[in-house]
Amino acid sequence: MAEWIHTVTARTPTNIAVIKYWGKRDESLILPVNDSISVTLDPQHLCTTTTVAVSPSFDQDRMWLNGKEISLSGGRYQNCLREIRARGEDFEDKEKGIKIAKQDWQKLRVHVASYNNFPTAAGLASSAAGLACLVFALAKLMNAKEDASQLSAIARQGSGSACRSLYGGFVKWIMGKEVNGSDSLAVQLADENHWDDLVIIIAVVSSRQKETSSTTGMRDTVETSILLQHRAREVVPKRIVKMEEAIRNRNFSLFAQLACADSNQFHAVCLDTCPPIFYMNDTSHRIISCIEKWNRFEESPQVAYTFDAGPNAVLIARNRKTAALLLQRLLYFFPPSADTDMGSYVLGDKSILKDAG
Ligand code: ADP
Ligand code: DP6
Ligand code: CO
Repeated sequence: MAEWIHTVTARTPTNIAVIKYWGKRDESLILPVNDSISVTLDPQHLCTTTTVAVSPSFDQDRMWLNGKEISLSGGRYQNCLREIRARGEDFEDKEKGIKIAKQDWQKLRVHVASYNNFPTAAGLASSAAGLACLVFALAKLMNAKEDASQLSAIARQGSGSACRSLYGGFVKWIMGKEVNGSDSLAVQLADENHWDDLVIIIAVVSSRQKETSSTTGMRDTVETSILLQHRAREVVPKRIVKMEEAIRNRNFSLFAQLACADSNQFHAVCLDTCPPIFYMNDTSHRIISCIEKWNRFEESPQVAYTFDAGPNAVLIARNRKTAALLLQRLLYFFPPSADTDMGSYVLGDKSILKDAG
């Protein structure tokens, strides 16, 4: 058999939800109980870089995450691989003597090496960047012609939040109505240039792996929380409409009020789960108090906060001047040190999807 290797490398940023996804109505297709809206972050600081390779000498699909081999046997990885394989097209690289017919993708095995430049499984949406990057890289490798929205529906089957990382700027994941999930995909609400003033600072309170993964946590919530039903049916649909309006009009007061309230309700739903899930810690709570006091002292909110399934704070300042003040306050009240339980600060501006392929 001819010895060749065909590789593609892609880089994908993570995204942080300002109206959260938490709860699935279909576990295997990953269909959510509500719409969600996110901001895609700057790939310089928070991104996944994934290299996918195919060669006739590979005898099984294998993957390495941050240098350690992980199993690809989970349904999510298999679903993404199967979907992209089915959409692969003919590929030829005359220089390297590579010729792959579309039906060959079913037989050829892939090797994947992925690296996150930020903490994995610590509540900074590594599954979002990771699975979006995997799907994007595989699609390039196999010459699949799907557009970003079709790829988002495939990435969704890897990790729900991943569907929003296929676009930069502000992104909405439409929950969809179809039982087969065909209309559950991401759309871009506004690109990264739309609201230039915003500055995002991430306080890495802890880079340790969380005890309860997002998947397990939200499964327990769906099974046991009464508050979740109210949130998904009554609260989120109204917030989605208002958040879209806030983004469209660059209305920071409305944006901050909605983002903070939604983050707090998501964590309330986690507490309403049996057994309760504690994603935030004391430092997270102190950061919230600090921002709340500041916002109440000013005429209108200056900083929005949101916490995913982990203790780390994503802080969104209304402009550069506020961001400078924010960083000053953070460094004063929460200096990075072992004693204060504060790791480091990362700048995470809005971004566009960059293709390193
Ligand atoms: P997070 O808050 O970081 O998204 P999750 O519990 O949602 O945490 O998901 C973490 C899991 O996502 C990891 O244990 C791993 O299985 C998967 N994951 C993270 N990064 C990648 C990556 N780059 N490529 C593939 N899978 C990844
Ligand atoms: C709190 O997308 O990580 O970050 O679909 O099971 O992989 P799975 O879960 P995941 O959940 C993300 C939850 C969240 C909120 C959000 O990103 O919308
Ligand atoms: Co995740």
